[in-house]
Amino acid sequence: MRTGGQTKESAVAHEYLDAAATAPLRAEARAAMLAVFDAGAANPSSVHAPGNRAKRSLEESRFRIAAAFNARPADLVLTSGGTEANNLAIIGLALATPRGRHLVTTPIEHPSVLESCRYLERVFGFELTLLPVNFDGRVDPADAAAALRPDTTLISVGLANAEVGTVQPLPEIAAHAASLGVLVHTDAVQAASSLPLSFAGESWPGPDIHAMTVASHKFGGPQGMGALFVRRHLPLEAILHGGGQEGGARSGTENVAGAAGFAAAVSATCTGVGTRALELIRSRDALIDRVLAEVPGSRLTGHRSERLPGHASFVVAGVSGESLLIALDATGIAVSSGSACAAGMDGPSPALLAMGVDPALAQTAIRFTFAEALSEEAVERIVRALRSEVQAARR
Ligand SMILES: Cc1ncc(COP(=O)(O)O)c(C=O)c1O
Repeated sequence: MRTGGQTKESAVAHEYLDAAATAPLRAEARAAMLAVFDAGAANPSSVHAPGNRAKRSLEESRFRIAAAFNARPADLVLTSGGTEANNLAIIGLALATPRGRHLVTTPIEHPSVLESCRYLERVFGFELTLLPVNFDGRVDPADAAAALRPDTTLISVGLANAEVGTVQPLPEIAAHAASLGVLVHTDAVQAASSLPLSFAGESWPGPDIHAMTVASHKFGGPQGMGALFVRRHLPLEAILHGGGQEGGARSGTENVAGAAGFAAAVSATCTGVGTRALELIRSRDALIDRVLAEVPGSRLTGHRSERLPGHASFVVAGVSGESLLIALDATGIAVSSGSACAAGMDGPSPALLAMGVDPALAQTAIRFTFAEALSEEAVERIVRALRSEVQAARR
């Protein structure tokens, strides 16, 4: 997959391998947003014809996003992104549910999950249990079951981890929690764009999920848009107060163009997602096998098979991930040294440390993520560049 060359600054056509941070904007999303802009701005709450048009566009977007995940439009709260949706799920559900003041999550969640839990601890006196994860970043469902108490309100386990791509045994964890009356939230921001997911019926990740977060820019939609799927019979305390939009769950004038871009990207991505996943897996596995065989000192992070289709992440003993990222960038390959979610974060990744990776080794993390399958030539170029930059760094 090649992008770039669109501005004077991006003279190098980059092999873009950082889709887990932000996937390339889809043509369908761009076209849908331009159509809304061209139709003229109006507030969907206004009662005149342009306002009605904006409202219709918004509701059509909601319908398309819900349909892609087998959900009802009424189950969807549109937000400013995954971060807000995670805050709303955790704070909103925990404060509205009288069951108790105990929360369960994992130490490898996105900061928007962990910090929302810590906010509830600090300000509202909740207790937080962090589940252990193994070396692959997997939660043992037995540990999750053992952590639940009569006063547990909510368990939040991310469907797939951004840094190492590991997919969790969520249906098992959720079924037990739901049987005890504990609410289950999953941050599906990373999983939703490459795995077939359903928020309804019996299909994966299962009927026991009460709330699920997704983010537009992981599908090739615009940044600053996301959604929380939350079963509408559940009480939810708003965290943004004002004009009562989104059924009172999220005040603020809606981002009509953003929602149209989000919906177009979701529809395009989720059509044929299963077939695309198989293609991604084939190129992911080719990349992993070749890196492990040809880059001395490299080791895969995360689970070998229970991982996101377009995600290959490694540690490379003795070579700083940050300097490897910069060296690869200079050769026209855009990667990440871990997760781009914590801006300016220094030091080894807390998620890798929680998985038991040695702190020095954790500083060598490097991540390749892609939204479309890699060609054989692309894999060849990436492996050759990585091998040569690792050799150069060691010299
Ligand atoms: C797993 C996960 N959750 C939440 C987020 C936050 O989403 P957003 O960037 O839309 O706020 C990210 C962003 O990368 C993520 O990877």
